[in-house]
Parts: sequence; C-alpha cells; structure tokens
Amino acid sequence: MIKLERVYKSYTHGRSYVVNDVSMTISEGEFLILLGSSGSGKTTLLKMINRLIQPSSGIIEVDGRNILDVDKIKLRRSIGYVFQGVGLFPHMTIEENIAIVLRLEKKSREYQRTRAHELLSFVNLEPNTFAQRYPDELSGGQQQRVGVARALANDPAYLLMDEPFGALDPITRDELQAEMLALMKNLKKTLIFVTHDIFEALRLGDRIAILHHGVLQQLGNKDDLLNNPANQLVKDMFTTAAQQFALLDGENGQ
Ligand SMILES: Nc1ncnc2c1ncn2[C@@H]1O[C@H](COP(=O)(O)OP(=O)(O)OP(=O)(O)O)[C@@H](O)[C@H]1O
Ligand SMILES: [Mg+2]
Repeated sequence: MIKLERVYKSYTHGRSYVVNDVSMTISEGEFLILLGSSGSGKTTLLKMINRLIQPSSGIIEVDGRNILDVDKIKLRRSIGYVFQGVGLFPHMTIEENIAIVLRLEKKSREYQRTRAHELLSFVNLEPNTFAQRYPDELSGGQQQRVGVARALANDPAYLLMDEPFGALDPITRDELQAEMLALMKNLKKTLIFVTHDIFEALRLGDRIAILHHGVLQQLGNKDDLLNNPANQLVKDMFTTAAQQFALLDGENGQ
C-alpha cells in the first residue's frame, strides 16, 4: 500500500505549490493512473514517493511505514522506477543496465544475465540482438522498453512508471499496454503509472487520479469520472475523451 497524507511541495517557500495538499491511498495490487497536463506535478509526486524529492510537508507511507523511517536505499530497491526520458547509463550495455540492481544485490553473473535476457524478451527486444549494445545504439522507443525491463529486474512489489510509453509508436504502445495489464494481473504488483494521455489512462487504470496545477481533482474509476465528475475540468476532460474512446474501441473490436 502507498499512502499520501496532505502532501505539499513548494519551491517558493510557500508562495506557490507544485503539489498542493494531495492525499490518496493506493491499495495492494492496484494499478493507479496519474493523469494530468504538463507541469501538473506528476513527476514531482512520483519522485517524492521514492525520496528523490522531499515534500515540503505531509506524510508518505509505503507498506504502512513512513518512508522517512525506511533506509533510502532499501526503499528504492523495493520500488521499481521508470524515469521519464528513460535515464539509462550510457557507458553500460543494455544487459548491464537491466541487471544493475541485481549486481548491487550481488546476484550471480549467470542469474543477472538470464534475468536480463528474460526481461528483454518480455519487452519485445530480441536478447541476442540487444543485450550487448549500448543505449545510444537503440532508438528512443527501444530505450524506453529497456527502462521498463530495468524497473522489473528484482521483481519489486511496487512500480512507479513515469510516462514509460511516451516515445513509442502506437502499435508497440498498444502491445506493451496489453503486456502491462497481463503482468499486473498475474503478479499483483502495486503500480502508479503516469501519463498525460487520457486514452492510455482509460485503457490501463483500475482507478485514475487527475492532477491539475498540483491539486488532486478527482480519484475514481472510469465510471466515477465519467458519470460523477467532481468539477467542470474533469467533466470536460472525460466526456469528449470517453465518447472518442468508445468509438475507437468499437472500431478495434470489429
Ligand atoms: N527543481 C525545481 N524547481 C522549481 N520548480 C520546479 C522544479 N522541478 C519542477 N518544478 C516545477 O514543478 C511543476 C511540476 O513539475 P513536474 O515535473 O512534476 O510536472 P509533470 O506533471 O511531470 O509534467 P510533464 O508532463 O511535463 O512531465 C512544474 O511547473 C515545474 O516547472
Ligand atoms: Mg513529468
């Protein structure tokens, strides 16, 4: 479980807030989408959960413990994180990038290699082709998939994914979205997935949290958001999008 209680973040000594009084609970095994326009505070929120950014005030708990009471390194290893813009280590091969946490945990070479190859296959990258390459020898979308593989390496209970499919073409994106859903169903991971793509949100999320100017506008499932929007902003976002989504889904289904 991940729990945020009245979390604020200000870079201006309280004159303005990039995250403004956000409270929410993500239960075990839930797939939560964090949806919001550029600059709405999505990345900030995610980074506060694994202590890359310190909140100005408020409490964050992971697994029932205040994250300030948990060793930073241990906390981060229990949470897989896919960075926005990937952030692979340029001087390491793809295999080394994926296995980095396993290496830090002193797993055997053989296990690191096997696991890296397994994960490459999972994200649809042929291991024999890609394992020994360096990040700059991959396309942006391929690097993003490696970012997802890396976050899964030590099978963390929690996953924070910051627009992991942002640079992918629609077909690969569809495939990976489907894979993600299957993975989540089978592995019961607790996942926060950031996107500014409302269609991705509708396709993937158990529940969707809508952030705007750092304020949580509403948190609910598709039906809640569509039928009981908390305010005009949510209403405008969802009414049109849901209609388009229904149309698109209809086309796909035929
Ligand atoms: N170190 C910083 N100092 C001052 N302001 C910052 C800092 N980091 C982020 N911000 C501001 O905080 C706000 C929220 O940023 P954040 O990166 O969380 O947005 P986001 O929702 O992830 O946007 P995007 O969809 O573009 O990635 C933005 O207005 C950003 O300019
Ligand atoms: Mg961001």
